[in-house]
Amino acid sequence: MRPAPAADPAALASFPSAARVLVQGASRGIGLEFVRQLLACTNVAELFATCRDPGSADDLRQLADADARFHPVALDLTNEASIARVAREVSSGGPRLHLLVNCAGLLHDGDLQPEKRLADVTPDALRRSFEVNASGPLLVAKHFQPLFRHRERAVFASLSARVGSIGDNRLGGWYAYRGAKAAQNMFTRTVAIEFARTARSTVVLALHPGTTDTGLSKPFQANVDPEWLFPPAYTVHALLKVIDSAGPDEHGAFLAFDGERLPW
Ligand SMILES: NC(=O)c1ccc[n+]([C@@H]2O[C@H](COP(=O)([O-])OP(=O)(O)OC[C@H]3O[C@@H](n4cnc5c(N)ncnc54)[C@H](OP(=O)(O)O)[C@@H]3O)[C@@H](O)[C@H]2O)c1
Repeated sequence: MRPAPAADPAALASFPSAARVLVQGASRGIGLEFVRQLLACTNVAELFATCRDPGSADDLRQLADADARFHPVALDLTNEASIARVAREVSSGGPRLHLLVNCAGLLHDGDLQPEKRLADVTPDALRRSFEVNASGPLLVAKHFQPLFRHRERAVFASLSARVGSIGDNRLGGWYAYRGAKAAQNMFTRTVAIEFARTARSTVVLALHPGTTDTGLSKPFQANVDPEWLFPPAYTVHALLKVIDSAGPDEHGAFLAFDGERLPW
């Protein structure tokens, strides 16, 4: 596995000196590591992190106990009212956000497993996957858009997956996840076009984190070359570099952890 670099206090150097940041889907995996590395940034003034049940997210609670800048809040992507409530809560403390990272994703959960063949496809798995991977991040864009109507540097990023690329699909399978991530990519691109009119200094990105050692990838790691299975700290360090350096040329792009532009 690749080395896990230390968090960089200057990882958001291109952002304002008192940046307000939100990580959506932060209870574990890549989202939790985003929280850790963002709290190490000297210019992060306030950090909100969401998950469905912050009361049982021990890692988030411990971080909140140790740092007054940090606020875990409850948000369920399948419940639009909860997204709207968090957007109101964040805006009541200040009129703007500078970085929002949609991290939540769903590949498997109990009976829900990625399909190997058409015979495995079920309406329930399709619905659940689309709710979390596609509609959820779009509803987040809907409710948080007002917080990006400012002139300071800002980024709105959604974690996608290379398997959501239609042009790159050579292996097949994983219908619900692939389809939902492809839909998420289309939504992100469409949000980028609207933000260019309504939130003009915000760069909108779809990001592929690379195969990262989290609960989401765990059952599928056996055939992954260890060199290409990243610790979350490696992934987030790399993604923060992509986010920090993203400018107008990257607006609306689908980028990998190393900055490579991926085909839709
Ligand atoms: N790991 C990889 O190899 C890999 C590769 C490519 C792309 N990605 C993408 O990267 C992102 C992060 O993945 P990960 O590996 O960190 O996944 P993970 O460890 O399984 O974490 C998933 C996160 O999604 C949240 N979540 C699930 N359902 C939710 C819902 N209905 N409402 C709100 N939050 C919900 C979970 O929070 P709670 O359950 O606590 O609410 C959790 O924080 C995902 O979008 C994934 O598709 C990951």
